[in-house]
Amino acid sequence: MREVKVFVPGKIILSGEHSVVYGYPALVASLSKGITVKLMEGKGKKDYKNDEIGLIRKAIGVAGGKFNGLDLKIESDLPVGAGLGSSAAIAAGVIKAVKKLNGKKISDEKLFDLTMECERLAHKNPSGVDPAAVIYGGLIKYIKNKGLVGLKTKKTVKFLLFDSGKPKETTGEMVELVEKRYKSGTKKVEEIFKKIWSVTETIQLNLEDDKKLKKLIDENGKLLESLGVVSKKVIRLSQDLRKINCGVKITGAGGLTGGSGMVLVKSLGYSKPKKFLEDRGYKTMEISIGD
Ligand code: PMV
Repeated sequence: MREVKVFVPGKIILSGEHSVVYGYPALVASLSKGITVKLMEGKGKKDYKNDEIGLIRKAIGVAGGKFNGLDLKIESDLPVGAGLGSSAAIAAGVIKAVKKLNGKKISDEKLFDLTMECERLAHKNPSGVDPAAVIYGGLIKYIKNKGLVGLKTKKTVKFLLFDSGKPKETTGEMVELVEKRYKSGTKKVEEIFKKIWSVTETIQLNLEDDKKLKKLIDENGKLLESLGVVSKKVIRLSQDLRKINCGVKITGAGGLTGGSGMVLVKSLGYSKPKKFLEDRGYKTMEISIGD
């Protein structure tokens, strides 16, 4: 019996979530953690959790596979729905695995298009930043409907991530919320997007300067707070982290009523913020990007 195995990484957005939906650039990086899809011809045995929206059935369908003729196992070391790109990674992984099992190659461009079809199940207006990051990998600058450029850094850039709790709202709901705000106060929201854009460009120029990067990540975080995508709990926690010299921003769509998903912390050293967060029961993860 033939069996194939495919790994697809998760991602973090350094800058540009939400504004990327409106055509502004985003900086995004793939992670070393991700999802592994194991697929073989079989009788439809499925071993995975959290597929409320039917993403996997859709991914198998767009790849030309038969849902009930495949045994599928998905292993993930990414928290689900927390802004680390797990749904795009699962969709891309399943599509790639179906093609591989059928002995077919798929180009990154085609894989991107098919993954986008799956992303539209999760929300109607995806920018494509998640599929771009998990398919092309590395550190990239992405612009909706225009494409991407790969970026290089002279050294790896370190961050701390912590899980502020699974948002009650889906990515789609958060994107809709921003859309409502945009429609009712276009000028104000556009002003925030333009400021985020300027931070994105400045981050790109200062990726290797930890001090400047810390300040820019924090500016970005405060702009996302003013956009209204960060919960009160996470705003308070961010204020406490700022007091111990950290730059803080959510990464991904955010969340308003409970947790806001994964939060990115930039500091000149991580032992203090790590202890601060772990003492309060938050799981942390050190990550490196670039190089
Ligand atoms: O899937 P998330 O939570 O990483 O959010 C993706 C980024 C958004 O800008 C909020 C949505 C999009 O499609 O770009």
